[in-house]
Amino acid sequence: MISLKDYINQNSANSDQDKAIFEIINKISDGVIQISKLLYGINSLDLFGKYGGENIHGEEVEKLDLLANDIFLENFIQTEYISAVVCEELDDIKQIHGHDDSYLVMMDPLDGSSNVDVSVSIGSIFGVWENNFDYSDFKSYKGSNLKMSMYAIYGPNTILVIGYDSKVISFILDSESKFVMLDQNIKLPLNPKYYSTNLSNNKNWSKDIQEYVDTLRINESLTQRYVGSLVVDFHRNLLKGGIHLNPKNVRMNKSKLRLMYEANPLAYIINIAGGKSFSEGVDTLELEPEGIHQTVSLIIGNANLTKNIE
Ligand code: AHG
Ligand code: MN
Ligand code: MN
Repeated sequence: MISLKDYINQNSANSDQDKAIFEIINKISDGVIQISKLLYGINSLDLFGKYGGENIHGEEVEKLDLLANDIFLENFIQTEYISAVVCEELDDIKQIHGHDDSYLVMMDPLDGSSNVDVSVSIGSIFGVWENNFDYSDFKSYKGSNLKMSMYAIYGPNTILVIGYDSKVISFILDSESKFVMLDQNIKLPLNPKYYSTNLSNNKNWSKDIQEYVDTLRINESLTQRYVGSLVVDFHRNLLKGGIHLNPKNVRMNKSKLRLMYEANPLAYIINIAGGKSFSEGVDTLELEPEGIHQTVSLIIGNANLTKNIE
């Protein structure tokens, strides 16, 4: 079985872009291994609980949210290829280097915070764009301009999924803290199994969305699953086929998921895997960003199940 380190060594030399992207993958994976060691380590109980403050979205911050943020930032400052970071837990963009041909990483360092204290699977999500150093205008950081996106799952085991160069590949962390390849070309199964959404939000959805979800509910080939950690719901559907929905709350005129570090990175991966994604009435990857912490609706999964409905 090929290790992630060997895979990186074999593929880094192809081009300048490959060298940079694989170095970034390397740094992200080192951070994932550190978080994994903490989660499954001897003092893991210390990681439970709230930090005490709120993030820019008005959500209570867990201790692990901040720890994961710090771990990834520490790894990122070790490479010249990352010159700026956008993070759910940081109000503003963080600039760390001035390298000309460098990249901007947008991350949700810990996705599924509400599941931490009850030992339900959680993850980390990353999107990587070429940095154009214009931080006043985010229009060029559309999802379709992503160079690479990836995520980690911390569950019964630790998994890395990487979307790069028209391929989705995955790795599993072994008992010696080494990532080894699981799948070298993930494609969505043609017969999807699951629909996944928080049905208790039904009362806040548009009529069209309510009717759409009803068609999924009565579809005899589908059954419902919902974890409440986006990246974990996404991963299950990627492997087994399905659709995940987090529609707009029309009563509040507000969407929940974050475009830059939740919706876009996953939309990039689903597209490569043969699926589709819609946000705010357009293909997620074509949505022009208005801000780094912008929130959007999300309908993502198998192409034959996803519909562009708001
Ligand atoms: P985060 O933990 O990074 O703040 O993200 C939470 C998100 C996402 O992971 C999940 O799918 C969604 O919130 C759950 O929303 P509901 O509480 O409406 O089910
Ligand atoms: Mn999240
Ligand atoms: Mn988060």
